[in-house]
Amino acid sequence: MGLFLQVLTVLVITVSLQGWVPLGCLEEERIALLHLKDSLNYPNGTSLPSWRIAHAHCCSWERIRCNSSTGRVTMLYLEGVRNEELGDWYLNASLFLPFQQLNVLYLWNNRIAGWVENKGGSELQKLSNLESLYLEDNSFNNSILSFVEGLPSLKSLYLSYNRLEGLIDLKESLSSLETLGLGGNNISKLVASRGLSNLRYLSLYNITTYGSSFQLLQSLRAFPNLTTLYLGSNDFRGRILGDALQNLSSLEMLHLEACSLDEHSLQSLGALSSLKNLSLQELNGNVPSGGFLDLKNLEYLDLSYNTLNNSIFQAIRTMTSLKTLKLKGCSLNGQIPTTQDFLDLKNLEYLDLSNTALNNSIFQAIGTMTSLKTLILEGCSLNGQIPTTQGNEIFAEEDDHNLSPKFQLESLYLSGIGQGGAFPKFLYHQFNLQSLDLTNIQIKGEFPNWLIENNTYLQELHLENCSLLGPFLLPDNSHVNLSFLSISMNHFQGQIPSEIGARLPGLEVLFMSENGFNGSIPFSLGNISLLEVLDLSNNSLQGQIPGWIGNMSSLEFLDLSRNNFSGLLPPRFGSSSKLKFIYLSRNNLQGPIAMAFYDSSEIFALDLSHNDLTGRIPEWIDRLSNLRFLLLSYNNLEGEIPIHLYRLDQLTLIDLSHNHLSGNILSWMISTYNFPVENTYYDSLSSSQQSFEFTTKNVSLSYRGNIIWYFIGIDFSCNNFTGQIPPEIGNLSMLKVLNLSHNNLTGPIPPTFSNLKEIESLDLSYNKLDGEIPPRLIELFSLEVFSVAHNNLSGKTPARVAQFATFEESCYKDNPFLCGEPLPKICGAAMPPSPTPTSTNNEDNGGFMDVEVFYVSFGVAYIMVLLVIGVVLRINLYWRRAWFHFIEVSINNCYYFLVDNLPILSKFGFS
Ligand SMILES: *[C@@H]1O[C@H](CO)[C@@H](O)[C@H](O)[C@H]1NC(C)=O
Ligand SMILES: *[C@@H]1O[C@H](CO)[C@@H](O)[C@H](O)[C@H]1NC(C)=O
Ligand SMILES: *[C@@H]1O[C@H](CO)[C@@H](O)[C@H](O)[C@H]1NC(C)=O
Ligand SMILES: *[C@@H]1O[C@H](CO)[C@@H](O)[C@H](O)[C@H]1NC(C)=O
Ligand SMILES: *[C@@H]1O[C@H](CO)[C@@H](O)[C@H](O)[C@H]1NC(C)=O
Ligand SMILES: *[C@@H]1O[C@H](CO)[C@@H](O)[C@H](O)[C@H]1NC(C)=O
Ligand SMILES: *[C@@H]1O[C@H](CO)[C@@H](O)[C@H](O)[C@H]1NC(C)=O
Ligand SMILES: *[C@@H]1O[C@H](CO)[C@@H](O)[C@H](O)[C@H]1NC(C)=O
Repeated sequence: MGLFLQVLTVLVITVSLQGWVPLGCLEEERIALLHLKDSLNYPNGTSLPSWRIAHAHCCSWERIRCNSSTGRVTMLYLEGVRNEELGDWYLNASLFLPFQQLNVLYLWNNRIAGWVENKGGSELQKLSNLESLYLEDNSFNNSILSFVEGLPSLKSLYLSYNRLEGLIDLKESLSSLETLGLGGNNISKLVASRGLSNLRYLSLYNITTYGSSFQLLQSLRAFPNLTTLYLGSNDFRGRILGDALQNLSSLEMLHLEACSLDEHSLQSLGALSSLKNLSLQELNGNVPSGGFLDLKNLEYLDLSYNTLNNSIFQAIRTMTSLKTLKLKGCSLNGQIPTTQDFLDLKNLEYLDLSNTALNNSIFQAIGTMTSLKTLILEGCSLNGQIPTTQGNEIFAEEDDHNLSPKFQLESLYLSGIGQGGAFPKFLYHQFNLQSLDLTNIQIKGEFPNWLIENNTYLQELHLENCSLLGPFLLPDNSHVNLSFLSISMNHFQGQIPSEIGARLPGLEVLFMSENGFNGSIPFSLGNISLLEVLDLSNNSLQGQIPGWIGNMSSLEFLDLSRNNFSGLLPPRFGSSSKLKFIYLSRNNLQGPIAMAFYDSSEIFALDLSHNDLTGRIPEWIDRLSNLRFLLLSYNNLEGEIPIHLYRLDQLTLIDLSHNHLSGNILSWMISTYNFPVENTYYDSLSSSQQSFEFTTKNVSLSYRGNIIWYFIGIDFSCNNFTGQIPPEIGNLSMLKVLNLSHNNLTGPIPPTFSNLKEIESLDLSYNKLDGEIPPRLIELFSLEVFSVAHNNLSGKTPARVAQFATFEESCYKDNPFLCGEPLPKICGAAMPPSPTPTSTNNEDNGGFMDVEVFYVSFGVAYIMVLLVIGVVLRINLYWRRAWFHFIEVSINNCYYFLVDNLPILSKFGFS
């Protein structure tokens, strides 16, 4: 019987799997997704390029999650998919009905003004599994409420930043709601006649009607079981906030960031005796002083980014339950906390004083704190000194144990706080550290292997740019816990110790770039089975690239560029390799590419440029079906481009310049794919990217937000390509950079090039092109760099309007039959209709100068791509964890996500 059941189960599973496995998703859902895409893109958007009929596996399309056992769509992340320029619009909610297991639906930031076929939600009741609905940042009015009332399982509803107004009536049918976001609307009153007793989390962030804010607070009585309340960015001056909220006896967490409060409203908070968590970040105007000192149960207090006055520490001192205190970026008006200030905070575990002006005595002040586990002093100015380097400073005297700190830290972040000296001496007394960041402190010592030896649980060690020198010293024993080690940008020398694999077997991320390491890569590195990221770039490593590196089971990112590796590429990277990013540029690699990456179908970016590779581009290149970045420039490759290369439909950047490639250029569809994975994570990442600046030799290209993920470039310059330019290249409407210069191309400039609306750089110089310059090129409004010099072009130059008004004579020169401004040659009434080619116009008077600007700009773009990819991966592991953690614990939307995770970003080099 048991056996029978087992067989039956297997059969049932097999049969039920067969229903969808061939397509990876249900056919009806796949069709529904395509309808949805059409609707979102109507009339002329370009979103969701990977949602294509030809791609059957709809569960692997971007912005979709499926249940792995049923294959049904469970999550749709459709935020920001509608082209904003198309204005407000109405979405057909029936399009979601086929997704019966839909659990989470993101639709924020799409300018949705409402639904077509608004049937009061009766249809939507079929979405019986929908629990979380994200509608922020749209144009919904109050009628959205009656619509969502039909959703039987709805637990989380986010409606912030819409056009809700006045009185909001929450019907009984919403009684399963646990989380409700209404911020950024013009709401004056909330009514819930039956009470929403399940409601735990409510956001009334930035409710703009000042006059009614008190009335609004009064109406919170309808939610007796609220535990968390976001009231940030409101004006509560003159309101007795504490009294109004006093009925909420379960309230534990209150957020008042960026509020306007007066002394009165602050003091009244003292009445909220159940409060455990209070955020008063960045208040407007009034300085919090001692008003809320009665909050004896407070465990978490965030006062970051305020100007505090002297009495604040007296108030804090009495909050003896405090576990977390954040004073990040506070101006303390010259006051430095003293030992007395922290003496009674016996329970404090987490102290953030980053970006505050302090002096060394802070270490004295906090030395008595017995529970402290996390200390963040990033970016503090400690009078230019790292702690403990001065004789009169408390932890300097190693032998005086009375003066050593009473805490055993788990996390310490000191990055960027000072110059010179040695390792802070109190570090010698720490043995519980799990995470230590000393980035950008100029320490000038040796590698602190004692830190790893002393702290058995150490997981993360950041020693980037610390001016460390000497050899890389390993701990004496094996340390399995260390998973992240960065010693990039120091002055280490000598060989990488051969026992590294045995002593640090738990490494997942190892950054050793920009040092002076020489010798070869030690064999034992290959035994680090969890290693995902290995960056040894910019050293003086030699030898061959070891073959075993392609068999490392977890390795995803490998950067060996800018070393002295020579010899052939490894014969064949293993078929189980997970490598996605391979950077081997600027070495002395020789010989053909042969079969090296034949089995590496996961590769996403492959950079073999600036080597001495010979032979042809292999025909198996189309096996790398995920390839997006291919860089083979500055080698000695020859022969024609194999037709197989044109089958790579995800490519977004290809650089084959400076080789000896010949034959015709074919055309293909360069991808407009979004990045395939974790889209929300990439979106968040790229919006934080705006802090990057790329300026080289006065040429600065900056890309905004998501554009980087669509960046598209082709560089085939300095080869021996012949034949005509295929007009289909004009269809690659996302193209930003096209360089076909220094070849032997003939025929006309395709008029289709006027479709390259995104193009910023177009170089066709040094060829044998003839015919006229298509006059409609003047419609390329993004064009910054343009050259058609040294060809056989004829006729009139394009009108000097828009971008073309900026192009000088050098962009057109050496085209004997070309006339019109800015050339000195004036167009005569009768131009020769078809000029006879001459042979004097090519390849002379060394022409790189006038296109230098182009190379610079391309280089900038190219470097940026590499940087961003690198950075993504650098933070990938941590970001990913933070992200999923956030998903689990979050009660509010992505705005908070970014804000909360900025420290993580800055730790990895964003700021
Ligand atoms: C897209 O459609 C809108 C509305 O019909 C129109 O205003 C806009 O010019 C169109 N854009 C393009 C690129 O066709
Ligand atoms: C997938 O669906 C099955 C059947 O409905 C359910 O039992 C399971 O919990 C789901 N898995 C996930 C991860 O949601
Ligand atoms: C909404 O979508 C449903 C399902 O695709 C369709 O039957 C209906 O005609 C659509 N309504 C409108 C107004 O487009
Ligand atoms: C909400 O609080 C009331 C008392 O105010 C209590 O009776 C009820 O059980 C609570 N509801 C839930 C879901 O916890
Ligand atoms: C608050 O809302 C107003 C109007 O909706 C908006 O202009 C402002 O930027 C918002 N402020 C914050 C901090 O979100
Ligand atoms: C840490 O290492 C240093 C140097 O080896 C040593 O002097 C110190 O006693 C060690 N501290 C602990 C807590 O093990
Ligand atoms: C192009 O081909 C010609 C002859 O086929 C050869 O002489 C020349 O060196 C080649 N140029 C480049 C840049 O490879
Ligand atoms: C162009 O072709 C000619 C022969 O047809 C060759 O001599 C010359 O080197 C080629 N130019 C380039 C830039 O490859």
